[in-house]
Amino acid sequence: MDRIVVLDFGSQTAQLIARRIREAGVYAEIIPGETRVSEIARDGLVGLVFSGSPESVGRAGSPEPDRAVYDLGVPILGICYGLQRMTHDLGGSVRVSETHEYGRSRVVFREKHPLFDGVDDGFVSWMSHGDGVQKLAAGCSVVAESEHGVPACVAFPAINSVGIQFHPEVTHCEFGQKILENFAHKVCRAAADWTIDAVAEKSIDSIRTTVGTEDVLLLISGGVDSTVVAALLLKALPSERVHLMYVNTGLMRKNESEEVAGALKKLGAENLHLIDAEQRFLTALAGVDSPEEKRRIIGDMFISVQADSIRRTLPGEYFLAQGTLYTDMIESGRGVGKNAHVIKSHHNVRSPLVEEKRAAGRIVEPLAELYKDEVRKLGVALGVDETVVKRHPFPGPGLAVRILGEVTKEKCDILRDVDEIYISELKKRGLYDEIWQAFSVLLPIRSVGVAGDARDYGYVVALRAVISTDGMTADVYPFPTNHLLEISSIITNRVRLVGRVVYDVSSKPPSTIEWE
Ligand code: XMP
Repeated sequence: MDRIVVLDFGSQTAQLIARRIREAGVYAEIIPGETRVSEIARDGLVGLVFSGSPESVGRAGSPEPDRAVYDLGVPILGICYGLQRMTHDLGGSVRVSETHEYGRSRVVFREKHPLFDGVDDGFVSWMSHGDGVQKLAAGCSVVAESEHGVPACVAFPAINSVGIQFHPEVTHCEFGQKILENFAHKVCRAAADWTIDAVAEKSIDSIRTTVGTEDVLLLISGGVDSTVVAALLLKALPSERVHLMYVNTGLMRKNESEEVAGALKKLGAENLHLIDAEQRFLTALAGVDSPEEKRRIIGDMFISVQADSIRRTLPGEYFLAQGTLYTDMIESGRGVGKNAHVIKSHHNVRSPLVEEKRAAGRIVEPLAELYKDEVRKLGVALGVDETVVKRHPFPGPGLAVRILGEVTKEKCDILRDVDEIYISELKKRGLYDEIWQAFSVLLPIRSVGVAGDARDYGYVVALRAVISTDGMTADVYPFPTNHLLEISSIITNRVRLVGRVVYDVSSKPPSTIEWE
């Protein structure tokens, strides 16, 4: 498969660059900008992108590529700092400035270049830079200028490369996708072979090669990632060798365990180990109201319940499969670095089992190159139920972090009823797919209300609905008022112990998505 590597010099948008190149049908991956060429020049490399950076090329300690990248013979696209880096490294000079030019700027063509095939002269680009090219490196030419006379695109013909001062990866840049597509297809001559079917085939082959004739165990959470991994394993291996383990913690949503089991059976699962540990979890949580303590208890209990069950069902050697995603592998803001494997906050990932299997090289992570939306597409291609593919994220500790204060069975049951009404109403009203994550929270207070002629003293629930792309930041979903009022009324009418409903209007930051 053809591959474009994004060398990340500390850009906020390196992820976006890789995603947009993938949207052009070409596999793109991000690696730290200072990676040695011997590690970059692997099979299939057809091009490189130098990302932007908050640094200045002239300053000591600014990130530098291994100079041998310029001799690799593959085209480079330098973006912002990337252009300045190439100019500096190849003998030109960069003007260092304390002030930043930020925002929209028109780009006017001076020369023809394949990067701009099908792009309108005078298109609106997005700039965010202080420094700029002052003197071109030998043999280079200005292909385009910004409306302020800054070189916006510079050709490096000797190395078949090009640099741009603007950011084609951000949505504000007109023709941004087209420009990256032109780089991939017209400059690098990359084939558009990164399709979901090709991804599925590659993952299945790789699972077969890695696992050989052994058994494999996958811990199922019920979310889309682990279900898609299960689908891949079941396509790659005989189903009797695929052990799927699901723990009902008692902290799951209504009918969740049954739905998860149903979806897996539909995919051909035979070895489904469903562990009912509700009692163990609730007993361990009794009397505990600190959020951190609850998380710790749940994490430890998961590990011990799973270990007991594995001892019984899989006494011999086996591989462990994990639903780790590409974003989990990326160190915040710096590309895949030394600690690539320690990022995911999910309690399963840091468990001794995972660490032991990773150290022994007995782990398969077939989603490790994929973004969440690609996992969803892969799920659809593999026949995973739509309801699972489109399901909102659900935290590992489940309802325990949505019941503020002590967790009891009664509170879990109340919240399950409320949440089921909330989510099914969102689906009925066609709102569910507009929202990134919606759920309800049981507050640790009671409030007075009237039911019939009597005064009542009921629970308060908060409804949450947010829009996000990765959960790192989130906006409040602007809930249509009529729907919100109607749903609130259905909840208080049907769930007797709930007397009041409130809507959470906090964004992240400063709030978080979950309440605990
Ligand atoms: P926060 O609340 O941190 O949530 O804004 C961001 C996203 O992460 C999910 N989340 C968790 N997922 N274990 C998980 O597996 C956890 O302990 C956990 N806490 C939060 C949350 O649902 C949201 O999607």
